[in-house]
Amino acid sequence: MIDQRIFSRRRDLFLDQLDGKAAVIPAASLVTHHEDCDYPFRQNSDFWYLTGFDEPDAVALFLSHRPEGERFVLFVLPKEPGIEVWNGFRWGIEGAMNRFGAEIAHPLEELPNLIGTYLKGAEGISFRVGRHPKVEPLVLNFWAEQLDKMQRSGSAPKSLEAPCPILHQLRLRKEMCELERMREAARISAEAHELARQMVRPGMNERQIQAVIEQHFLAQGARGPAYNSIVAGGDNACVLHYTSNNSSLCDGDLLLIDAGCSLFDYYNGDITRTFPVNGCFTGEQYALYEVVLAAQEAAIESVLPGENAEIVHLKAVRVLVEGLVELGLLQGNVDSLIEQGAYEHLYMHRTGHWLGLDVHDVGAYRLGEYPVELEPGMVLTVEPGLYVSDRIPVPDGQPAIHDRWKGIGIRIEDDVVVGEIKPEILTAKAMKSVDEMQRK
Ligand code: GLY
Ligand code: MN
Ligand code: MN
Repeated sequence: MIDQRIFSRRRDLFLDQLDGKAAVIPAASLVTHHEDCDYPFRQNSDFWYLTGFDEPDAVALFLSHRPEGERFVLFVLPKEPGIEVWNGFRWGIEGAMNRFGAEIAHPLEELPNLIGTYLKGAEGISFRVGRHPKVEPLVLNFWAEQLDKMQRSGSAPKSLEAPCPILHQLRLRKEMCELERMREAARISAEAHELARQMVRPGMNERQIQAVIEQHFLAQGARGPAYNSIVAGGDNACVLHYTSNNSSLCDGDLLLIDAGCSLFDYYNGDITRTFPVNGCFTGEQYALYEVVLAAQEAAIESVLPGENAEIVHLKAVRVLVEGLVELGLLQGNVDSLIEQGAYEHLYMHRTGHWLGLDVHDVGAYRLGEYPVELEPGMVLTVEPGLYVSDRIPVPDGQPAIHDRWKGIGIRIEDDVVVGEIKPEILTAKAMKSVDEMQRK
């Protein structure tokens, strides 16, 4: 787990950049699944990044306009034995201060009365509107009142701004301790993929494979799946967000698995592997798998300082399009096909995303016109694929697709750290060569 000193250092960095403003960062709330039952609690990642506090409904204030000793304030659900006997332990006010470093903590119910006292004097307010319906009216009402009084008081916060640009820039560059946690999430996730590939046989159900993968996550100490696992046999793999996982696995089909675990401190793995259910590729499967693997390896090679996510994507697209032309699934000049997007009926998503506390992690890909340059410590997925089905019409001028190719969906996804000299593939323990995907 991440040490409390790390959270404290992050708060200092955040407060420095707030530069006279006050930030209001709410925790997540429980979400109802169905009558009287909630989904498992999932903390808001920004709140977690700054506090390491894993309880619902808390609110953190960061008060860069106030003196030392009053800058990190937590409002939390207080200890209540009558409620804890039903719903579990709470740290309460003392715990928020002694364990989580709040300089002052209060019961959550005091927030409406006290928020104004703390925010007063701030030059601006940093708060994400549109996401926190219980806290937002408190922030906006305070600001409106201060503006009403400004003519006489002479001061009021001048702006309401999003905390994301500061916080998400911090989160985009992973610290050493975060990379350690991501290596652990990747290790558990990769092992699960290995177990799945070794056990799959024709006639099994997708759900049985999901069970093996998620059992491994839990047995290895992870919180559970980082996202709904995708276990997709045959044509199901051509549905990018397939999560029904309830079909039989057929002899002759491929199985695409996109699954990764989330640790108790919320760092995630995100891996996809695709292999033949019966242990042996058909000619068409083999040919397409080789193209996707070549595209993925070429793209990973470009995960270097100074490059950017767009370059990584374009590397993959070029190799995919070259391969598809060679196989007769596309026709024409490679540059023109890329420019026209004439491959998008076969490859319709981007090649990757930032990875961290969120699976699709925060951080800009572009700043205005300029793509964000990769820097050591950033982590992204590299996940090209090909999906051959009738779902998207073949564009004019491109060849009709013969049935022998249809129902093949392939994606290969690794989690990659931008290294000083070469990329570090966190998920390398999940095999992916053509030979390793086949059973002898
Ligand atoms: N598993 C979600 C993704 O690959 O982006
Ligand atoms: Mn991904
Ligand atoms: Mn994935």
